[in-house]
Amino acid sequence: MDSSWLDALESRAAEVLPAAVHAYVRAGARDGLAAAEAVEAWRALRLRPRVLQDVRAVDTRTTACGVPLDLPVAVAPTTLQRAADPDGEIAMARAVADSGSLLVVSSNAGHRLADIAATGVAWWLQAYLPQRRDRARALLADAVAAGASAVVLTVDTPVVGTKYGAAAGVWDAVDVSWVRANLADAADDPKATDLGPDDIAWLADTTGLPVVVKGVLRADDARRCVEAGAAAIWVSNHGGRQLDRAATTAACLPDIVQAVGEVAQAGGTEVYVDGGLRNGLDLLAALGLGTRLAFVGRQPFYALAVSGADGVRRMFAEMRAEIEEGMRLLGVADLATLRRSEVVLGRAREAATRAVPGVDLRERPL
Ligand code: FNR
Repeated sequence: MDSSWLDALESRAAEVLPAAVHAYVRAGARDGLAAAEAVEAWRALRLRPRVLQDVRAVDTRTTACGVPLDLPVAVAPTTLQRAADPDGEIAMARAVADSGSLLVVSSNAGHRLADIAATGVAWWLQAYLPQRRDRARALLADAVAAGASAVVLTVDTPVVGTKYGAAAGVWDAVDVSWVRANLADAADDPKATDLGPDDIAWLADTTGLPVVVKGVLRADDARRCVEAGAAAIWVSNHGGRQLDRAATTAACLPDIVQAVGEVAQAGGTEVYVDGGLRNGLDLLAALGLGTRLAFVGRQPFYALAVSGADGVRRMFAEMRAEIEEGMRLLGVADLATLRRSEVVLGRAREAATRAVPGVDLRERPL
């Protein structure tokens, strides 16, 4: 085999998924530049291992908002999982639970939150807030009642980024109930275009849960989130599906880790990342740049399509094996050491911005 099971996952999924569903999952917004660059940005990073280290045992355990995890990778919210497998989020949840990971359930899921929770999985709810905030209360109350342990506020979607071609036509090819199991009559509420830091406190008050802010790319915004009470900052450009030409998360992560570390109290706000992470080496680079936890969106969707819950279990097993091998080769025995190990060579941001000749994406003070 020329490529690993993980790297071949999308092409195997393409053989079994309806063409419109594969096009939709693979798609980025507009020209797909941000989606394509997300993958390349991690691959562009280079590692500088430590030697003469004791790596007889490597420890991949971490915690996120207090949830214990066996490995530092978890499942990002993706809609339409019932298009990958008839058991959709239930199959995903079983595999995530068996793998000692965490599932973030999209508010556009195809199974009821209580049924997903009944698998015993550790899970968080992802929420988009509607223009009329009160219209979110029923969903949030359902999530609390079903045992969500955090709520993830997606902040990069005041409008849905335009997608072209077959991806745009997916809604004619799927059953609308696959995205509306928990939304009842709130499904058509327009998304809020006036989200602000106050919404973080509103969500925390309304749910009593830690609030994770997903979709942050700037250090100044990360600071505003921390000051507004966010429990974690999730560096994401929505898998390149919102603003095309958004900077890569590999480029943005180091500044945000630094800014959050400076503003948060010791042991305070956590930093996570997603976007373009496909295999263990990508994950090691992200962890080496300081993320506490990395999320994958398309990979578990494809794994679910290829062989249901077993596919997702295998995805985690492959990622764990690659991370463990990589930690040994990097000379780091645990994730806290990896985060501060400086094994990622140079400024990630510079490596990642080279993907766009002639365009300087580096953040400048406003
Ligand atoms: C998403 N994403 C997403 N995000 C979110 O907050 N709510 C959602 O309902 C969805 N739905 C969704 C569907 C599909 C098909 C994709 C591919 C993505 C974004 C997702 O949570 C995550 O940010 C990206 O998928 C991460 O990039 P990778 O791992 O897919 O490259």
